[in-house]
Amino acid sequence: MSADLVVGAQWGDEGKAKVIDYLSKDIDIIVRYQGGANAGHTVVVDGKKYVFHLIPSGVIYPNTICVIGNGVVLDPDFFLKECVSLQNEGFDVFNKTYISDGCHIILPFHQTIDSLLESNSMPGEKIGTTKRGIGICYADKMMRTGLRAGDLLDDTILKNKLKMIVQKKNLTLTKLYGLQPVTYEDIYEKLKSFIERARKMIINTPYYLNEELKKGKRILLEGAQGTGLDVDFGTYPFVTSSNSTTGGAITGSGISFHYLKHVYGISKAYTTRVGEGPFPTELFDDDAEKMRELGHEFGATTGRPRRCGWFDVEMIKHSVRVNGMTSLVLTKIDILSNYDKIPVGVGYELNGKKIDFLPTSGLENVKVIYEELPGWNTNISGISNFNNLPGKCKDYIEFLEKRIGVPINIISTGPDRTHTIIRNI
Ligand code: GDP
Ligand code: IMO
Ligand code: MG
Repeated sequence: MSADLVVGAQWGDEGKAKVIDYLSKDIDIIVRYQGGANAGHTVVVDGKKYVFHLIPSGVIYPNTICVIGNGVVLDPDFFLKECVSLQNEGFDVFNKTYISDGCHIILPFHQTIDSLLESNSMPGEKIGTTKRGIGICYADKMMRTGLRAGDLLDDTILKNKLKMIVQKKNLTLTKLYGLQPVTYEDIYEKLKSFIERARKMIINTPYYLNEELKKGKRILLEGAQGTGLDVDFGTYPFVTSSNSTTGGAITGSGISFHYLKHVYGISKAYTTRVGEGPFPTELFDDDAEKMRELGHEFGATTGRPRRCGWFDVEMIKHSVRVNGMTSLVLTKIDILSNYDKIPVGVGYELNGKKIDFLPTSGLENVKVIYEELPGWNTNISGISNFNNLPGKCKDYIEFLEKRIGVPINIISTGPDRTHTIIRNI
C-alpha cells in the first residue's frame, strides 16, 4: 500500500536502526537498498543489544520479511556468518530473507584492494574506509564487470562470468597493484557454500516488492550510512560509494516512487562522523572526548572512535532538501543532559559571505555561526512522554525544528526500543 523510508541525515550512525526497529512493528517487509557490511546498526530490546551489518534491522519481529535490495553489495561469507549468528539467537532469518538477483557480490579481491589503497594512500587522500571492499565492488558494478546474485543460480553462467572476471582482474592485481593473482577455482569453491544456503533466497525483488505493495503490504526502506556519506550529496570524495539518500532507495529497491509516503530523516541531537573528511561543527581535545564518552561514540563496525561536534542546522537543511524529508527523528538527546550551555551551528560563512546551502566543495573552509542555548542539566534517559521533558529540552527541540523547517515527531531518549517519544503524529 505504501512505503516509508528511513534515511541518515548526517554522516551515519545517527541511530537509524533503533528507529527502524521501532517503526517495524507495523511493517510487513523491510528492505536494505544500498551499502553493504560497512554498516553497523544497533538495536536494543529489553536490555539486549543486537548489531546488524547486512541483515535489515527489523529482523527481530517474527513476521517481518527482510529483503536485501539490488542496490546492496553483498559479501557472501559475511552474510552467512550474520545469518547463522542470528539463527543461533532464535531468529528464523534463513526462511524470511530474500536477496535481490540484481545484488552485486563482493569477491575476496575487492577487500584486498580496498585495504591496499587505504594503507598506501598519501596523507589527505585517505578516506578512512571500513576496508570491507565496498567502493571496489561498486566500481566493478559501474565498469559492468561485476558478478550478481542472479548469476549464481546457473552454474554455466557463473563459471563463464567468473572466468572472465578473474582473467581481467588478475591483470589489475598483478600489473597495477603488484599482488599475487587469484584463481577461478578458489573463488568458485568459496562461493559454493553460499550458493547452497542462499539459492532459494535469491529472487526478482523489484517484481516481488511491487506485487506485495499492490496487495496492500507495508514496506519500510532501510538506509545505511547517511546523507553526508552519499556519493553525490555527501562530502565527496570522503564518502561511501553508493546513494544513501532517497534516490538510492528507489534505484536500490525497484519500488515505484509513487508508493513512497514518509521520509524519516534521522539525526543525533549533536553530530558525529567516522573516517576522514570535513566536519564544520567538530569539537577537539577534551570537548570531543567528553561527548564521545557520554555518547559511547565508537563505531559499531570498526570500533573506531567517532569524531564529535554540535548540531549543524545547515547540514540538516541540506538533508531535508535532497531527501524530500517529511520529518526528522532526533536521537540521543539524553546525551546533551550534561551541558550547561549547548551551542548549535545555525549557519555558514564562506569567504566572508553568509551562504544558506552546503557547499559542494570547500566545506572545510566554512566558518560556522553558532547560537548558544541553555542546557537542562537533568537526566532525561528513557523518558517516553514529551510533556515530561524539562522545558529547556523542549525549547532545544523546538528551536531545531524551526530552523530546519520540518517537524520533529519522534525523539529518542535512550538506546532501548521503549526510550522513544512520539509527538504530534
Ligand atoms: P545507525 O548506524 O544509524 O543504526 O546507528 P548505530 O547503531 O551505529 O549507532 C547509534 C548508537 O546510539 C547505538 O549504540 C544505539 O544503541 C545508540 N542509540 C540510539 N538512540 C539512542 C538514544 O536516543 N540515546 C542513547 N543514549 N543511545 C542511543
Ligand atoms: P551506518 O549504516 C558511519 C564511512 C567510513 C568512511 C566512508 C567510506 O552504520 O551509519 P566505505 O567502507 O563505505 O567505503 O567507507 O564511509 N562509513 C560509515 N560511517 N556509519 C556507517 O554506516 C558507515 N559506512 C561507511 O568510515 O569514512
Ligand atoms: Mg552505524
